[in-house]
Amino acid sequence: MTAAPAKVAVLASGRGSNLAALLDARERDDLPVEFVLVGSDKAGAGALRLAEAANIPTLALDPRSYPDRRAFDLDLFQRIAASGADWLVLAGFMRILDGEALRPWVGRIINIHPSLLPKYRGLHTHRRALEAGDREHGASVHFVTAELDGGPVIAQAYLPIEAGDDEQSLAQRLLPLEHRLLPAVLGLLASGRLRWDGSPRFDDQPLAAPLRLGEHGLQP
Ligand code: GRF
Repeated sequence: MTAAPAKVAVLASGRGSNLAALLDARERDDLPVEFVLVGSDKAGAGALRLAEAANIPTLALDPRSYPDRRAFDLDLFQRIAASGADWLVLAGFMRILDGEALRPWVGRIINIHPSLLPKYRGLHTHRRALEAGDREHGASVHFVTAELDGGPVIAQAYLPIEAGDDEQSLAQRLLPLEHRLLPAVLGLLASGRLRWDGSPRFDDQPLAAPLRLGEHGLQP
């Protein structure tokens, strides 16, 4: 008898290309998980349409119908818990999460962020990397804590910055790397090789430095 696949919920505010990458990996049998819910703070998010097309239950909650951030987040997390999700993936979920609402989920939520964290938390990461004159840029997947884009980094994909790059070209070249990075990290969580024990552990050792996305997947 094989173990039941890990149950995963995804939150996204936008077009959902990272969600699409997760669904594709699942479809190719590269990612042994079951997607139990896709939620959004934007009823018009493309991610919700992708989920509907894949017959995954969806949830759209409007933050404006709650008295404050905490009330929204508590309701959101309660509904995610009710979906049976073991893991929650933030794939372009453009909201800061309330620390109190988040607490029971710490160690079970990951986020993808388009920078080499700890550089450039928050918005406009491509522009900031260019303005700083960086020679490389990238994306990170990290465990989510109450600190914005501040939880322990699990894995990163690197992208050299070329002469003539602008925000758009960087975003365009980075996205396909994000689409490999996120399913790869989720796969490690689902397999149990990566886990949280107050801090990240990989193959039963403390994760000393972020894994790095290479040609053949994630490497220490
Ligand atoms: C990605 O760049 C991701 O790194 C960031 O938000 C963007 C989401 O894009 N957190 P998509 O909706 O997955 O296409």
